[in-house]
Amino acid sequence: MPTKQNPPPIPKELPPCDGPKLNLFEHHDSEIEWIERLGCKGESSREGYVFRVKINNVEYALKVFKFHDPMQNEWWWGTHVDDLTPQIAAYYEDPFYNECRAYGRIRKPLRGKRKLSDAAVACHGFLFLSDRDRQYLEDNEYDLLSSIVDPSYQETTIEGFRIRAIVKDLASEDHGVTGDNLGKVLNRIVALNQHQIVTRDVRLDNIRDGKMVDFGNSFTLPHIIMQSELVRHAEHEFNMAWDRWMFDEMVRKLTIARKLVTLLEPFKGKLVHNHLLIDPAGAILPRSSPDYQPLRCAIRAAVFDALAVSHDTFDSVFVFTDFQSDDEVGSAVMGEYRAMAARRGCTFVPITLTCSKEENLRRLVSSERSAHGKLTDTELVARLRDNAVTHQSPGDPFQLELDLTELDAEAAARMVHQHILDVCVELGKEGH
Ligand SMILES: Nc1ncnc2c1ncn2[C@@H]1O[C@H](COP(=O)(O)OP(=O)(O)OP(=O)(O)O)[C@@H](O)[C@H]1O
Ligand SMILES: [Mg+2]
Repeated sequence: MPTKQNPPPIPKELPPCDGPKLNLFEHHDSEIEWIERLGCKGESSREGYVFRVKINNVEYALKVFKFHDPMQNEWWWGTHVDDLTPQIAAYYEDPFYNECRAYGRIRKPLRGKRKLSDAAVACHGFLFLSDRDRQYLEDNEYDLLSSIVDPSYQETTIEGFRIRAIVKDLASEDHGVTGDNLGKVLNRIVALNQHQIVTRDVRLDNIRDGKMVDFGNSFTLPHIIMQSELVRHAEHEFNMAWDRWMFDEMVRKLTIARKLVTLLEPFKGKLVHNHLLIDPAGAILPRSSPDYQPLRCAIRAAVFDALAVSHDTFDSVFVFTDFQSDDEVGSAVMGEYRAMAARRGCTFVPITLTCSKEENLRRLVSSERSAHGKLTDTELVARLRDNAVTHQSPGDPFQLELDLTELDAEAAARMVHQHILDVCVELGKEGH
């Protein structure tokens, strides 16, 4: 990766344009002790990588951003704003700057609006990584250049080839969204919206301890592209609706599991939330410990073993919630579920919940857009695809993949319930 001989001084705040700005991290020149990567370890990331680090003896989460090429989104900003340079456009659509602007607003909230301080996991500022840190990332094969197509553009940016990162409080591994605090979490999202921040990415992965943690996809007003003559108000309304819709979606999935267990009451249905199996390990060991993953595996093994051999579990149907990726780790855990069900002599029924974001949002904003909007359907769909979440399909004969686009939680729970009755012959045999 090319580096400049004499890079310009590090700015005290970023981005250098209208609107909110994030401060330089107080200890930006202190040594960083890299501990471990957080989040989906096996997966490649769109925006960058998040690490648990220690700086001046305090643990933080450090989000390291990939280099960004604004020309990839020129079809969007280029058609809406005349004479915009890629350098300025990047301040409004590069995930690093999206986070700077959102956290800049959280740092200096608008007056007379709801409290904002606890809406997001706290942020301490940005920093540019040292050569030593760059070496650490290179040695460990974290690719930061994948989206760069034009080094001559990068040369002209304020950061040059320096690697950008944002320092946040280290939150727990738990999203912290439960049946009891849904109202509180929604209030936090509404508060962000009131302060003119739209996250555009409300989902469990981006929430830690009930607070938003990922603003890489967010828009914060004032916004040169969102507020251009051509895009106008409708677009902002659209994005606020998007936050609400994603929240509803998240809640719907949690609700389906609960309703399903109620429907399975005649079979003594029981819900085992994935965090019941993870939290004991997290309570006693740091995730960096070599003993952490083996402990999680041992807890799962002990619980699964009881389900396989203890007769006192045999009169119940168990509903597990889980989020597994399509990689090796995900298939290994799915294998453990299957092995347990086989030993137990029961049917294992994987249910995958999907949803068409495109269709739902199109409906949500169609009236608005016909009145004001200038976006064409093609552009809209392209943007939504950019942010699509991928789902896994294990390809199992008993699998049910349910598209939630047209379904409310009640109907979805009923369909899953019916599917379970259809494929689990053992339930019929017992005469229920
Ligand atoms: N402050 C934090 N404390 C604890 N864990 C965190 C923190 N920030 C991020 N994580 C973990 O790292 C993951 C990725 O973080 P984040 O969502 O900010 O990155 P991303 O590159 O936008 O990822 P994606 O594109 O998958 O949304 C989160 O899902 C979460 O598990
Ligand atoms: Mg994220």
